[in-house]
Parts: sequence; structure tokens; C-alpha cells
Amino acid sequence: MNISMTKTTHPGKLPPAGQLGFGSVFTDHMFLMDYTDQEGWHNARIVPFGPISISPAASVLHYGTEVFEGLKAYRRPDGAVQLFRPWENVARLNRSCDRLGLPRIDERDGLQAIRELVKTDADWVPSEPGTSLYIRPFLYSTDPTLALHGVHEATFAIILSPSGSYFSDGLKPVPIMVETEDVRAVRGGTGEAKCGGNYAAANRAGDKAMEKGYSQVLWLDGVQRKYVEEGGGMNVMFKIAGMVVTPMLTGSILPGITRKSCIELLKSWGIPVEERLLSVDELFEAAKNGTLEEAWCVGTAAVVSPIGELAWNDEKYEVNQNRIGALSQRLYDELTGIQWGTRPDPFGWTCVI
Ligand code: COI
Repeated sequence: MNISMTKTTHPGKLPPAGQLGFGSVFTDHMFLMDYTDQEGWHNARIVPFGPISISPAASVLHYGTEVFEGLKAYRRPDGAVQLFRPWENVARLNRSCDRLGLPRIDERDGLQAIRELVKTDADWVPSEPGTSLYIRPFLYSTDPTLALHGVHEATFAIILSPSGSYFSDGLKPVPIMVETEDVRAVRGGTGEAKCGGNYAAANRAGDKAMEKGYSQVLWLDGVQRKYVEEGGGMNVMFKIAGMVVTPMLTGSILPGITRKSCIELLKSWGIPVEERLLSVDELFEAAKNGTLEEAWCVGTAAVVSPIGELAWNDEKYEVNQNRIGALSQRLYDELTGIQWGTRPDPFGWTCVI
């Protein structure tokens, strides 16, 4: 794929690490590519980061025809920059496109676009511990008509954001609350796709949890409202009586790449992992009788974030005395060690750009 390049005439500067939260600072450039039924994907370009012009009738603005991804570039100790399992993100992006009727991209082109853009803005990859360059690919329909029909025009874009910790308190355990009114997804819906609408539909519950002092919600399945599914924007794992349990991929849960990596790491250490249905009753019974040893969220943005408190209606329990557990810490250390290149990568998950 040929990518044209227009460099910015007003380069910005990477802020000090202490000022990097999540997703609010952007680099100098972005990647764009257009799709039409007639021409297929064309006009791949890296251009200065800035506003995108779009028809007010564009389908994405009315019907939420959008999918996205999240991955990161890391600064290794030798100064090189590496990516973590980017091919998994591009493959998932295409599966999300299938669900929303958006045109797929060629996976090699998607990977090339990510690499070229990160190379262009490589000076923006921070090097302080805990920092990285968050990569946000997204793909949306630009069909300028209000009629409901298939997608005939689209844009694929990538923006980059130097980031610190997702939660403002860093690796400190977070309190989370079971959401009992709203549901995030149902089987056959869009829960396993990474599409904007899933996150928009989660806003109300997220706001309510925040108002009550919780960092985020714990979603239950949308039909029986009985089984734990995922956190707000990340998967969840629990250590119950020595066994790691994580909700199985039923079709309404996001198949997280960090989730998959943690399962593979745990299994490589000989720690049993059960991917199965986990009812909220079983989880809170384990919290009550002390067999819930640890709980943590996993996601690209959140990495491995310990859960320090669980609430469900009037029941409230501390997990591991609101401290980071030994297993979550080990997972965090190993995963980030591989990602930042400070530990060996026996799985071949990373690639230097
Ligand atoms: C990610 O972890 O990359 C995500 O997409 C989470 C985001 C919704 C904040």
C-alpha cells in the first residue's frame, strides 16, 4: 500500500510523563484512508492531526456505524519502539466490521498503517515507567444519506495518544459496582464487537457508578441478569479458592487481547484458568466466605488493574483487604515486562517497528 505523507508545519511536544493521563494528548499526525464501493480502499495518507470534515448526514453521526481498536506502542530500554500483538487488533477490527456491515480492511495494510504512523510520530512514545503510546484505529461509515441501507462509503483512521495510567490513581485497587438496571449487551447483539455504540450505551451506568464513588461498573448478562460479563471497558478475572475464573466468551463479551494474553500467561505458569459462566451469587458468596482471593480488570488501556472493593445492591466486600494481590501483581509485572521489553518474550507477541 502506498501511503502519502504531509508533515505538520507546527510540531507539538510530548508533555512530561506526570501530565499524561489517558487519551487526552495527541501526536502531530494521523492516518486516513477512504473507501467507496467503486474504488475500494484508496487514498491512504498520513496528514497533520486535526479536525475531520464530514457530511452532517453521514451515517456514523446518526446510526453509530463505527468500530474501533486500542493497542499500544512501548519504548524499550534500548530506545527502540515495539508493538504488542497488533495483528490481533487488526483481525478483531475486521470481525467488528463484519458485525456492523462496514467494509473490511486488508490486514497487511492495517498493520502497515499502524507501523508507519507510529514511526512518523516515534518521538511521542514516552519512556517513563508506566507510560506508552496508545494507538486508536477506528473505521466509520461516511454515507451522506439518512436512508437505512448498507454502507457504501467509509473512512479508516488512526490517531495516537501518549498515555500514562488509565485510572487516575495508577495501580491502586479500584472499587467497582454491579450494575443491576442497565445492560451492556445481549447475545446476537453487538457485545463482542468493539463498536462505539456499546460504550455509549454504558455511559449512564458508568456515570451512576462514579456518582456513588465507584470507578466503574461490573456488567451482568442482559437476559438473566445473573452472570458476570465484564467491567466498563475491560474484561475481569477472579481468583477463587486458588483457581482463576473469567467469564467465558458467550457472544456478548468483548474478546479482549489482554484477557487472552493473561490466560496464556497463567496457563504457562501452571495456574488453572476456568473460562465459564460465573454467577453474581457465586462471586458474592466467595467474597463473603473469604474464598475470593483476588479480583482484577484486564484491558489494553487498563493493563492489569486490581479490584479492591465489590458492591452489589446493599452488599459490599473488600477484596484482598483492598491491596494488590500477589497474582495480579505477577501478571502485571510479566505482561508489562514483555510489553516494555524489559523481560523476554517467549510467545513472540511483540514486534519492533
Ligand atoms: C482499550 O482498553 O483499549 C479500550 O478500548 C478501552 C476504552 C474503551 C477506554
